[in-house]
Amino acid sequence: MLAGVEHAFRTVIVNLLCLQCVIFLVTDILRIISHLILSVIPVISVQSFHTFQLQANAKRISSIDSIEDCRRYIGRKNGKDFILLGEGSNCVFVEDYYGEIVIPKLFGKSIEEDNSNFFVDASASENWHEFVIWLLANKVYGLENLALIPGTVGASPIQNIGAYGIEVCQFISSVDYFDLTCGEIKTLDAQACNFGYRDSVFKGELKATAIITKVRFTIPKQWTAVATYGSLADIDNPTAEQIFTEVVKIRQSKLPDPELTGNAGSFFKNPIVDKQTADTLANKFPGMPLYKVNDGESKIAAGWLIDQAGLKGKTINDIAVHQNQALVLINTNNNGCGKDLVALVDEVCNTVFAKFGIELSTEVRCFGHEGELNLLAKKGEESELTAVKNAKGTR
Ligand code: FAD
Ligand code: EPU
Repeated sequence: MLAGVEHAFRTVIVNLLCLQCVIFLVTDILRIISHLILSVIPVISVQSFHTFQLQANAKRISSIDSIEDCRRYIGRKNGKDFILLGEGSNCVFVEDYYGEIVIPKLFGKSIEEDNSNFFVDASASENWHEFVIWLLANKVYGLENLALIPGTVGASPIQNIGAYGIEVCQFISSVDYFDLTCGEIKTLDAQACNFGYRDSVFKGELKATAIITKVRFTIPKQWTAVATYGSLADIDNPTAEQIFTEVVKIRQSKLPDPELTGNAGSFFKNPIVDKQTADTLANKFPGMPLYKVNDGESKIAAGWLIDQAGLKGKTINDIAVHQNQALVLINTNNNGCGKDLVALVDEVCNTVFAKFGIELSTEVRCFGHEGELNLLAKKGEESELTAVKNAKGTR
């Protein structure tokens, strides 16, 4: 009798142990499968990581918390093997990205001075607008025209941010970057940065291999107001604080707040043409705003071209040309999709080309499954962006 009870008890224990083994096995298999799925399928939303706020996913989002962390990316290419993001205000994810988004988190700033200049250092992840406010609070004047530009200090040299008569390159003395080809920190002086209109070496030969870690500014103590743009010119003897306030007011009246309506600022660059083309266009279209860049070249206001082509307010589902500033495309209910954006970009470029014979190029950087998309297709060829529009199954 006792032996029978003992046998039954043993059998129950053995069965329970077997069941536990099976549960462990199944849990492990599920864990491996989910790990495999996560490593292949992008499931992490990047919507809140770029100001255009299109719905798109990436496989992973990680941060760089120290210079040492940059070492993880040695030998890999930004824009392809991973995508470095500041605040995503100049980037648009038109599709899911099958890779890793990497966000530097490098903070710190300081001011030193001599008799003539302030010498300001700022780490890459400092917020640009907060940086401008901090300079004003410390009575360091010069960058106030660049108030309210979204993004980070680290991204400011990349496209040489500019607004209301000033470009940041006028104040940058050098830029530090982590070189992904050799794992060293390098410093480029302003001349080597090769700054141009919305351009620098960081959009050219160093595009894939530099993680900018610090920007240094030399700001003369002798301050002169730059107050030529619009209502800035109406202020008598403006102070830097007054310019700051007016710039914020102008921007808030023209540009959509990315917190409320997804956008990436000017979607296109203002085209630069040679003198002969500028003269021909000025004769043919007398109202066209043309700004002299140098003796041989002029810049055309692309917003005017888009506006005059009748595209202001043009909408494709949730993506639209902004009513107050035609150079800005918006994600109206933050519910838009990459395909509609691409369709609108195509329509804007084609319509402007048909009316004025001018090819627009994008200012923003667009990303798809494999990384950055090359948008500069020659006329008659298909751009990588158009391939996105025609792809099956993309939202
Ligand atoms: P992101 O968009 O995150 O990145 C831009 C590019 O730089 C990406 O290719 C990224 O890989 C690279 N990058 C970012 N950080 C680093 C780093 N540390 N090292 C190496 N590469 C890096 N721009 C102007 O010039 N003038 C304006 O007046 C202006 N107005 C705007 C208004 C609005 C409403 C918006 C949304 C944008 C505006 N912009 C303007 C564009 C934008 O603010 C700037 O281009 C800004 O500098 C982008 O900063 P970010 O940190 O968001 O860069
Ligand atoms: N215009 C129109 N219709 C429009 C928009 C503009 O006719 O819908 C005309 C304006 O009347 C003006 C001219 O075009 O005569 C230029 O417009 P605006 O002064 O608004 O400047 P922008 O050339 O459109 C550029 C920068 C902005 C920067 C402003 C202010 C580029 C690509 N854009 O815009 O930068 O803030 O000047 O300096 O250079 C950005 O880069 O994201 C950005 C917002």
